[in-house]
Amino acid sequence: MPVLNRECTKRYEIPGTNVILEKGMQVVIPMMGMHYDPQYFPEPEKFDPERFSEEAKSKRHHYVYLPFGEGPRICIGNKTPNYYTNNCAYIQFIKFTHQNIKNATTCFGPKTIISELYIPC
Ligand code: HEM
Repeated sequence: MPVLNRECTKRYEIPGTNVILEKGMQVVIPMMGMHYDPQYFPEPEKFDPERFSEEAKSKRHHYVYLPFGEGPRICIGNKTPNYYTNNCAYIQFIKFTHQNIKNATTCFGPKTIISELYIPC
């Protein structure tokens, strides 16, 4: 999603500015713009997992990276992608460390914690 949407529920003056949000006003938060802003993420097009190290995260404002939104309407699935990523990484680890497993793959069901399908060689 490139933006987050909110409706202002009460009049609010943004501190340090003369910008006033009136009740009922629609607010568009340019999430993607922030994610690609070199001020927060130098060389934004570059694949650099180190951007998400604890040290790098501690150097920028928490709200400049909002892939799942924030606040009471934050994505309810915000833990789910981590879950899939971790499981897939785990399966890749299994595949590359166990030489007798040629074709390991993951099978996700409604109650899956982790399950692997091993096709013996
Ligand atoms: C990479 C995967 C995903 C991304 C990037 C993503 C991103 C988002 C974003 C940006 C929002 C808006 C949050 C806000 O306005 O503050 C949202 C809302 C939502 N997402 Fe996701 N989402 C992902 C996966 C999922 C999954 C797996 C589920 C369900 C299991 C899910 C269910 C929802 C629901 C129900 C909302 C509405 C929450 C509300 O309005 O209270 N999302 N998501």
